Amino acid sequence: MAQVILSLSNVSKVFGGLRAVDQVSLQVTIGERRVLIGPNGAGKTSLFHCISGTHHASAGKILYLGRDITHLHEFDRTILGIGRTFQISSVLVDLTVLENIVLAILGIQKNKWQIWRHYLKIKGVESKALAQLGQVGLQGQADVFVKNLSYGERRQLELALALVNNPQLLLLDEPCAGLSPSERKNLFNLIKSLPRSITMLMIEHDMDVALGLADRVTVLHQGRVILEGDSDEVRQNPQVREIYFGQA
Ligand SMILES: Nc1ncnc2c1ncn2[C@@H]1O[C@H](COP(=O)(O)OP(=O)(O)OP(=O)(O)O)[C@@H](O)[C@H]1O
Ligand SMILES: [Mg+2]
Repeated sequence: MAQVILSLSNVSKVFGGLRAVDQVSLQVTIGERRVLIGPNGAGKTSLFHCISGTHHASAGKILYLGRDITHLHEFDRTILGIGRTFQISSVLVDLTVLENIVLAILGIQKNKWQIWRHYLKIKGVESKALAQLGQVGLQGQADVFVKNLSYGERRQLELALALVNNPQLLLLDEPCAGLSPSERKNLFNLIKSLPRSITMLMIEHDMDVALGLADRVTVLHQGRVILEGDSDEVRQNPQVREIYFGQA
């Protein structure tokens, strides 16, 4: 049987009186590409925050490779191999592409407090950063200020930032949101080309993108899992069609 990388048991996240995530249980196996769908406000991002440690779950348990990470700090989860992108763009626009990557690399290194040293003099940093940019097709843009990148290229950079720590589990929160059709296709192909050594959990609104990538799909509605299945099961499920597509 495939080994489980991520296991959630009855995870809830409460904001005041609102149960954004309500007793969610799910398991993702190593190498799997799982897509999380659901209407606006379903609790998808809140669930991601609980897994990445941006927020702490109000109740329930989260295991990563069998280890209880429910109460672990976000940074420690990154070190353990959980990488993520954000729904809202999180790059530093007044720095160059290379500088953004270098900061991410230094952020996870023990010598990060030597940041006053010129970053390119720190052994291996520049070559690692350039290799990372190569992986997402941005090697030619290393010296471009992020504010001058297209929106699609920014998303590529965000993907590179999430890959800096060689994550075993990658959380992608609507990576293609707001992109033009051609940018969307480009980024989607890039995500699809990532090796299976990276397990993926991706939130995606576009049904074609979601079902084109997913081995399995989890459908969230009002904080709860209402269905887990393969693409065909999700497409054909009447409750999903009703809730997600607004049609019976
Ligand atoms: N920090 C917060 N404080 C209070 N309420 C929040 C907070 N974050 C999210 N919520 C609420 O929790 C619910 C779930 O939000 P969440 O962002 O997780 O949904 P989502 O499925 O990611 O939606 P979308 O598809 O629009 O991104 C919403 O009602 C939202 O308003
Ligand atoms: Mg969201």
